[in-house]
Amino acid sequence: MKDNKLTYFIETFGCQMNERDSESIAGLLEREGFSPAQNASDADVVVVNTCAVRQSAEEKVWSHLGKLAYESGRSGKVPVMVLAGCMAQLPQTIERIKRRVPYVRVAVGPGHIHRIPELVRQAREQPSAKLVTAVSPNRTEAHRTESTQMLPERLPRIKVPGVSAYVTIMYGCDNFCSYCIVPYVRGPQVSREPRFIIREIEELVSQGYAEITLLGQNVNAYGHDLDNGTGFARLLEQIDRIPGIRRIRYFTSHPRDFTEDMVDTIKQSSHVCEHFHLPLQSGSNRILKLMHRGYTREEYMELVHYIKEQIPAASVTTDIIVGFPGETGEDFQDTLDLVEQLRLDGAFMFIFSPRSGTAAARMDNQLSRKQKSDRLQALAKLQNQITKDINKSLIGTVQEVLIEEPDPKNPEYYRGRTRTNKLVVCTSKWPRPGDMVNVRIEEAGTWYLKGPVVEAG
Ligand code: SAH
Ligand code: SF4
Ligand code: F3S
Repeated sequence: MKDNKLTYFIETFGCQMNERDSESIAGLLEREGFSPAQNASDADVVVVNTCAVRQSAEEKVWSHLGKLAYESGRSGKVPVMVLAGCMAQLPQTIERIKRRVPYVRVAVGPGHIHRIPELVRQAREQPSAKLVTAVSPNRTEAHRTESTQMLPERLPRIKVPGVSAYVTIMYGCDNFCSYCIVPYVRGPQVSREPRFIIREIEELVSQGYAEITLLGQNVNAYGHDLDNGTGFARLLEQIDRIPGIRRIRYFTSHPRDFTEDMVDTIKQSSHVCEHFHLPLQSGSNRILKLMHRGYTREEYMELVHYIKEQIPAASVTTDIIVGFPGETGEDFQDTLDLVEQLRLDGAFMFIFSPRSGTAAARMDNQLSRKQKSDRLQALAKLQNQITKDINKSLIGTVQEVLIEEPDPKNPEYYRGRTRTNKLVVCTSKWPRPGDMVNVRIEEAGTWYLKGPVVEAG
């Protein structure tokens, strides 16, 4: 009976990088003979791919693990539970699993996902034995390159169906922004060879994916660690020429490494979308310096002005952290002033979360919860109003939209995104995922645009 086959279920937390890794984990397990389960409580193996960027991300994972354990206790079926991804790299996670979370049987860092089938086998063969781990040695700022994450190149992959696919172009990060755990958990920057990237994209395009999103923690530092001279701009040029590709996005770019050459290359390209996600983090030069960001507010403004001057239709979005240690009322006011001046299309806004092992977690003058949440509220109020005003100013315009999926709120409609990465609910009923259509915007809010198709794109 084929139902005897072992099954797996994967839950993914965190960024697109993890989503892409989960596709490889699925590919590896299926190559091993596992088939997908409908939900976690039916599965023989449950993989939780985790994120460590903020305390709240970790808490989500712990409470989810508790829920999975409760459900499997009730159903009587005990799966092999695997904690994969960034949290597995933290010594305190391993400690906590050993002390308090015995139902997690395997912990595996992002550089070792190719070993998951073997580790699961090991855990299944010795049901009462101790935690099976595969993690990289601890990385410190002092030893920037000593420990390495293995490059999970050319692993099998079960792609999430859709019109858009992720392609990781580089792993890890060498920046050590003082608040950030990513360089510790993801290891040093390693760029993939251009020919592997191109081949992967050609394959995806031939399978019908219309949009490719290039992933990396700092994509515009792409190639700094290769000796063939290919930087991010040259890579974009090559990808832009791949026949059949319709849209190219990339995530995340660092303002310090965004050169005018890159902006010009994007301007001249046919398929690279006019959307710039440039994490600002703070509007105060003093805080930017403490964060090790490598640019000033003036340099950031100059970059945004250059982009808007060269590509007037471009959208610019950002990330901002409030409540960095020692952030004074004046520093925060600098952030608000800059946000007001820049009038960016959107922002992800976060409360500073001290991450053990990072420089910022050791700094004096940590702000109280209340101070931080008050600041977040004030900033969000300002930015969300700006986002809404900009979106409303698009009413009456016609936008090119790549249709992606049914709208969860109105199942009779489909939704997609503009080249500038704005979500559009299409109120004509015929467009289907993969269609490129022109939509006349009739309604707009902070998080969406809405309207009918005016003509086929
Ligand atoms: N590599 C990307 C983003 C990595 S994490 C970049 O450099 O832009 C995504 C966002 O999470 C960051 O831009 C930052 O705004 C936020 N972030 C990272 N560490 C954080 C921390 N300790 N507390 C709060 N927000 C954090
Ligand atoms: Fe973290 Fe900075 Fe690297 Fe982004 S660039 S992953 S914020 S250290
Ligand atoms: Fe989180 Fe790791 Fe991504 S810490 S943001 S899942 S790189």
